[in-house]
Amino acid sequence: MVVLLFCRTKTFFMKRLTITFLAAVLSLAGHCNEGMWLPFLLENNIGEMREMGLHLTADDIYNINQACLKDAVVGFVDLDNPFSHFCSGSVISAQGLVITNHHCGLSVVQQHSSLQNDYITNGFWAMSLADELGGNDIGVCFLRRMEDVTETILQGVSDTLSVKRRNDLINSNISQLEKKVSDSTGLKAHVDAFYCDNEYYLSVYEIFEDIRLVGTPPIEVGKFGGDTDNWAWPRHTGDFTLFRIYADSQNQPAAYSDKNVPYRASNYLKINAKQKAEGDFVMLMGYPGTTNEYLPSFAVAARQDVFDPLVVNVRGKSINIIKEHMRADQSVMIKYTSKVASLANAWKKYQGERTGLISKRVVEKKRGREQLMNKWIAETDERKAQYGNLLDYYEADYIEYVKQEKARLLMSETLYKSEMLAIGRKIRTILNLNISDSAKQSQIIDYLNDFFTDYDLATDRTVTSMLIGEYLDNALPEHIPPTLKKMNRATAADVLISKSFLTDSASAVAFFKKSLAPDTKKLMKDPLYKLADEAALIYNITIGNPLGQIERKIDNHQRLFMRLQRQCFANSRIFPDANSTFRIAYGQIGGYRPSDAVRYTPFSTLGGIMEKCDLDVYDYTVPDRLKQLYADSDFGPYRNADGSMPVCFLSTCHTTGGNSGSPMFDADGNLIGLNFDRVWEGTMSDLQFDADICRNIGLDIRFVLFFIDKYAGARHLIEELDIVGLSE
Ligand code: ARG
Ligand code: GLU
Repeated sequence: MVVLLFCRTKTFFMKRLTITFLAAVLSLAGHCNEGMWLPFLLENNIGEMREMGLHLTADDIYNINQACLKDAVVGFVDLDNPFSHFCSGSVISAQGLVITNHHCGLSVVQQHSSLQNDYITNGFWAMSLADELGGNDIGVCFLRRMEDVTETILQGVSDTLSVKRRNDLINSNISQLEKKVSDSTGLKAHVDAFYCDNEYYLSVYEIFEDIRLVGTPPIEVGKFGGDTDNWAWPRHTGDFTLFRIYADSQNQPAAYSDKNVPYRASNYLKINAKQKAEGDFVMLMGYPGTTNEYLPSFAVAARQDVFDPLVVNVRGKSINIIKEHMRADQSVMIKYTSKVASLANAWKKYQGERTGLISKRVVEKKRGREQLMNKWIAETDERKAQYGNLLDYYEADYIEYVKQEKARLLMSETLYKSEMLAIGRKIRTILNLNISDSAKQSQIIDYLNDFFTDYDLATDRTVTSMLIGEYLDNALPEHIPPTLKKMNRATAADVLISKSFLTDSASAVAFFKKSLAPDTKKLMKDPLYKLADEAALIYNITIGNPLGQIERKIDNHQRLFMRLQRQCFANSRIFPDANSTFRIAYGQIGGYRPSDAVRYTPFSTLGGIMEKCDLDVYDYTVPDRLKQLYADSDFGPYRNADGSMPVCFLSTCHTTGGNSGSPMFDADGNLIGLNFDRVWEGTMSDLQFDADICRNIGLDIRFVLFFIDKYAGARHLIEELDIVGLSE
């Protein structure tokens, strides 16, 4: 018991300094599960993983010369932003079938949906290859290799360089290396900073651009529980969608074309349909986006008390307005489903994060750690010279940073969230591009056509009016755009609409069609454009410049602070923060205690969906077909031994945004589930992992199989899979 207690928090590290011997013994005895590790550097973890039950070797997981698990894991990217992975997924058949989360594919489903073909509501199943829906603006990437290139990138860099010189030199070294590797391999090379700019690793990707929608459940299943259950346990969401990778006749990446054929995958995952048990080993791989595990106490305090509350307040208000409009009008429902989901997601997460940080006393724990560091620094003159003033300077600069970042965040959560103001901003950006007038013209017209397909003026009017009020109430006087100063806050949104030609699709498009170079005088007189222009100037310059300057200082402090932590706690394994690069996390299936006297078990079942459905809550509706399958207990060979139908499960892996769709593996590397969320109490794990309450939520792969087979009747897809462990 004592062992677990120590292992559970970072007090573990503190004790280590003073009670070195005891800590050494304890660290051998317990496993912490914290961490998003690098598959190409698994030597330090593989022993522990095998002790926890893994049957594979490090080479089975990552090896650039032989077939291994990494080759079946993909990152999902927007084609115009190919190194920032918004979700993860895995290849599950020899014909390039890929599985990810429903919420990861929702924008694609939406693009193909209309009132006539409402795939969001009804789901979609391609019954043959010809029915698969392509022309999407997302791609998937495979990591081909990763390597430590710190030495190359830090060539010529010394501690005496100014921060600016240092950054310039590093950036130039990075571009050179990326270009060299991309040119010589024909692949996409990208260098990322690790350990807060102390190390640099190269990732080489192959990116496939023709990804087609194969199947998705109705949103009542794919997002069952909606925002009521989002970030929460018990959970019953069938959060999966199937895509297929298409390639040219040589099996190479190619832009969307009807000549492309399904990708022939030499590596794909086997699926294990055996019933799981609490304590089973689990690992997952994918592309976690961002964590900040090594911040000082005062930075955590700012997030907890300043940034999180700001986001929660404004988003909560927008969500209420949008949902009211959605409920009143089915076309608004289709247009705003995905928009409201992304607003609500962060809104709820930051509430959980703040609650967790407070209840686990993270700021105090970080302060305790800083005291230990200060003691360590005081031990030698060399340390004093390197780090003696670091925390004081860092904290002093952080006060300025919070002021500037708060101003930025306020604008980005208010004026920048108004859709009508976004029209002006986007046009402004395109007009500022260094491209021909005709290219500008066609980009603007394409943008407007695209924008208005998903736009509802009445909804946006009410939201914008609220957002303007929030901005005026909270912004510093020097950050208020002159146009806004002259307006009456109660009528500002109405005036913008009635006086601007940009909120009406026909007049906006007509204006930009009229001549190649738009009449800038007329544009600058348009109050909406003018306000968007002023806001952008304030955001980029008035706020952006001082913020950029202070951020450079903060980043440099954090780089040194990270280095200090790695030196001071040299005996503990420290993983680098998530940065949208390829990672592995591991743990076991396990429940938790969310509060006193309550224990959550780690498995949910279809019966739970039916219980929730009876509650008559807006987010708990179920398609009749699923009710019938439940009534008939028609679960096929995918059910539990007691006859129930599994849906979701909990594990102790450390995950974050971007890990959605990550394949969850058993001890043999077979697919057992898809990561899609974390529990609310544990969303603090982006800043501090706490083994008591941090859990990731997976969708049981058996629910996926059941759904494809029994609900969608897409047997041909089941035939495509390699399934072991079926109960019949
Ligand atoms: N919370 C999960 C994530 O961060 C799932 C989001 C989609 N689901 C939802 N109900 N909004 O992305
Ligand atoms: N749903 C998240 C995603 O889209 C994963 C949940 C998390 O942040 O852990 O990546």
